[in-house]
Amino acid sequence: MDNTPILELRNVVKDFTTGGGFAKSDLFRALNDVSFSIHKGKALALVGESGCGKSTCARLITKIYEPTQGQILFRGKDITEIKGRQEVLNYRKSVQMIFQDPFGSLNPTHTIYHHLARPLLLHRMCENDKTKLRDRVHELLEMVELPALTAEKFPHELSGGQRQRVNMAKTLAVGADLVLADEPTSMLDVSIRIGVLDLMQRMKKEFNLGFLYITHDLATAHYIAEETAVMYKGQIVEWGDTTEVINNPQHPYTRLLISAVPDPDVRFADVVKGEEDYSSHAQHIRDISSAKVNQIKRVNQNHYVRLLAG
Ligand SMILES: Nc1ncnc2c1ncn2[C@@H]1O[C@H](COP(=O)(O)OP(=O)(O)OP(=O)(O)O)[C@@H](O)[C@H]1O
Ligand SMILES: [Mg+2]
Repeated sequence: MDNTPILELRNVVKDFTTGGGFAKSDLFRALNDVSFSIHKGKALALVGESGCGKSTCARLITKIYEPTQGQILFRGKDITEIKGRQEVLNYRKSVQMIFQDPFGSLNPTHTIYHHLARPLLLHRMCENDKTKLRDRVHELLEMVELPALTAEKFPHELSGGQRQRVNMAKTLAVGADLVLADEPTSMLDVSIRIGVLDLMQRMKKEFNLGFLYITHDLATAHYIAEETAVMYKGQIVEWGDTTEVINNPQHPYTRLLISAVPDPDVRFADVVKGEEDYSSHAQHIRDISSAKVNQIKRVNQNHYVRLLAG
């Protein structure tokens, strides 16, 4: 069996130049030593608070930015070697983004039919034949549990959840292999989030898609992701099987994140047993977690934690 991950990040570093100067002091290290892999039919949740570097990972994967150090491999091939218009177009067809704002990626002046028929034609996924196109669009809508008449509607006539389903149908239209979903449900009403996550979970399995699920909400990771990576200030501090990371958190920052999640399955009192006044140490935990460290400890079969400095 071919065990090559669909996507692999190896010790990726991303520095941004801030200010406009080129002095070393003007470099900001947004990502340090980031490594993870995603396999077909599996999802990785990349979890962390605002500004920790989640979207930067997605932008590197879609080749919007280049890594400062390290490698990004797609099906075993370094993506910096993907050059030329056609090659990049093919790559971006295989690697689709789903964004936070379900409206942002839809054009208000076009029907849903147009949004789905266009990528089918652009990527030659369907013959340019009216009946065949219409059938395929209806089929795609059915896959994401939307009625066929949705095709005639405009984006503003749909709810946020329905729009996000249309975005998923677009992903299926081009036959993507990897989906980068950047906070796909955070702008949706709480009551419909689970439905959208469940659909993504089903799509992942049915179409054997690799999924990067980016979220600040650790509590939603287990709906879709077999594996979870917790990120803080540009470093993955802990990663492994989602159940392991949530039920047996090792890194103080992971524990801090869990403490912020009122998850009835995770009893914070148990997690922090014996540690007095845990929350008042929050700032301390952030401080000790921000140091750039490259030493990693294996906790279990598939569970790793980054060591603290000192
Ligand atoms: N083009 C850029 N130039 C300079 N700094 C940048 C650039 N893009 C991102 N950053 C910085 O890198 C860090 C990570 O940003 P990123 O957008 O990846 O965070 P995020 O985890 O996606 O946050 P959020 O949850 O708010 O979307 C931030 O401190 C941000 O200010
Ligand atoms: Mg982001």
